[in-house]
Amino acid sequence: MSQSLRQIDATPSKRTYRSIIADYGLETAICELIDNAIDSWISPRKHHSLHIDVKIDVDQQAIVISDNSGGVKESELRKLISPGESSTTGDSTTIGVFGVGSKRAVVALAQHVQITTRFQTQGTYRLVYDDEWLTSESWDLPYTIVADKLPPSTTEIHLSRLRFRIDGLDLGRLQKHLSMTYAHFVEDRGIVLQLNSGAIMAHTFDTWAYPPGCAPTQFSKTLSLENTGGKIHFEITGGLICERDSDASEYGVYIYCNGRLIARAAKDAELGYMSGLAGVPHHRSSLARVIVSLTGPSKDMPWNSSKNRINFNHVVFQAIKGDIIQVVKNYAAISRRLAADFESAVQPYATGAIVAEHLAKTESIKPSRLPDIPKSRKNFKDAVFELNEKVAEEKPWVRGLYEAVVAEEILAKQKHFEQSNRLSLIILDSTVEIALKDYLANEISQPMSDDRLANLFKNRVDVHKEAEKHLQFDPAYWKKMGYFYKLRCDLIHKRAASGISDADIDSYRRVVRRLLREAFKLRFPR
Ligand SMILES: Nc1ncnc2c1ncn2[C@@H]1O[C@H](COP(=O)(O)OP(=O)(O)O)[C@@H](O)[C@H]1O
Ligand SMILES: [Mg+2]
Repeated sequence: MSQSLRQIDATPSKRTYRSIIADYGLETAICELIDNAIDSWISPRKHHSLHIDVKIDVDQQAIVISDNSGGVKESELRKLISPGESSTTGDSTTIGVFGVGSKRAVVALAQHVQITTRFQTQGTYRLVYDDEWLTSESWDLPYTIVADKLPPSTTEIHLSRLRFRIDGLDLGRLQKHLSMTYAHFVEDRGIVLQLNSGAIMAHTFDTWAYPPGCAPTQFSKTLSLENTGGKIHFEITGGLICERDSDASEYGVYIYCNGRLIARAAKDAELGYMSGLAGVPHHRSSLARVIVSLTGPSKDMPWNSSKNRINFNHVVFQAIKGDIIQVVKNYAAISRRLAADFESAVQPYATGAIVAEHLAKTESIKPSRLPDIPKSRKNFKDAVFELNEKVAEEKPWVRGLYEAVVAEEILAKQKHFEQSNRLSLIILDSTVEIALKDYLANEISQPMSDDRLANLFKNRVDVHKEAEKHLQFDPAYWKKMGYFYKLRCDLIHKRAASGISDADIDSYRRVVRRLLREAFKLRFPR
């Protein structure tokens, strides 16, 4: 039985446009158009400097984007409107790959699109389309030769009848987004990118802190992809940051693909932010930052088609996932240890060198090649309790003494007390008084009776004199104790007590701890 071969007409419907513009906002759309100018400038490599000018008129609700990247040949104009058409094969380190960016972008932004382009010094051509063309059956589009020529190698895109309103706030957000997304092109390749005539400055994220033993580490390796034969250079840098942004969520993983920022401050479970790995996102891990940079054929980049997210199922992401998680986990753990002491343990170390490590093709990052997690520093109370546990077992009277030292330390740290020095003075001085009483009652070879103690303690000056007979203590300290006792009496008994400075309290604190050490062998952490 013979079968006749039939054909299906698979010409796509114009409705394709509607699906490809979904999920496109101002930032994604403008970036696609900038990407194209960068790609056209990079490949084939041009020697002139690239200028990209974005103008957004919020009064007129119109956008003009122009660039001098090269322009489009007359024979290639269809690449500007036909979905899927592209100059890139996906083998070069460009940003374009899907052949849909420019079409999605312009249609998502505007109902009226005019593209004028001049390839090198050839003629200037213009194509114009609107919603009527987008809904018509035909894919044919007329274009015109423009007598009023553009400068050579220029493309100018005019968008009007915008599909959504753009206001000043949107412009501010766009400016920030561009400064982050194209930072490396601006900084490393000298691209001039302007938004409403203001130059976009590079905003990078590599401001590291270099605390001793916890400097940033950078690993690099070349991945060879079995299925495509592509080679991708992978670089990952992990570390702590030395400046906390006003935006407390500016931490996590930053991923650049071919120089363009794709993911910013990502904290997905796939990157390690889950319990059992780096832990769920928390401000204690907010000092940890990991920057990943992938360079290779655009068709092998693990981005989504809007280039604003990583495709976690992509084979390249799967190949580097373990390494990313390892680095995230390590620095998140360091952050958790040091975050509470940021001002003293991290912030002062703003300069240093990144530790660079090379990995073989198939080698993965082992914890041993990352900094050790610093030992947890005990809080003051736990440290004091632990240091003096044994002495307290033998001499129960010392417990109240070191607890008073802890209480004063905690109280002094309370930020909401305006006059905590008054309370500190009272606690410290009472501790001295009680300590001397305990000393004379328990520690000397012939302890004093209750009656004698009661008599002696009628006058504090006498107490000091009596204790001085038994205690080998620097005379300067006795002098200081006398001075602070008087300060305390002034505070309690006089109408206008003089101010008590931080330096005074600090000095008295040291005297009290020294006294407790000499008299009872109590110990305090430095
Ligand atoms: N500003 C531009 N300058 C030069 N060529 C451009 C420009 N914008 C778009 N093109 C051409 O149009 C093609 C299609 O762009 P696009 O739809 O974004 O897909 P892709 O970037 O994936 O190639 C590009 O490959 C390029 O040839
Ligand atoms: Mg593109």
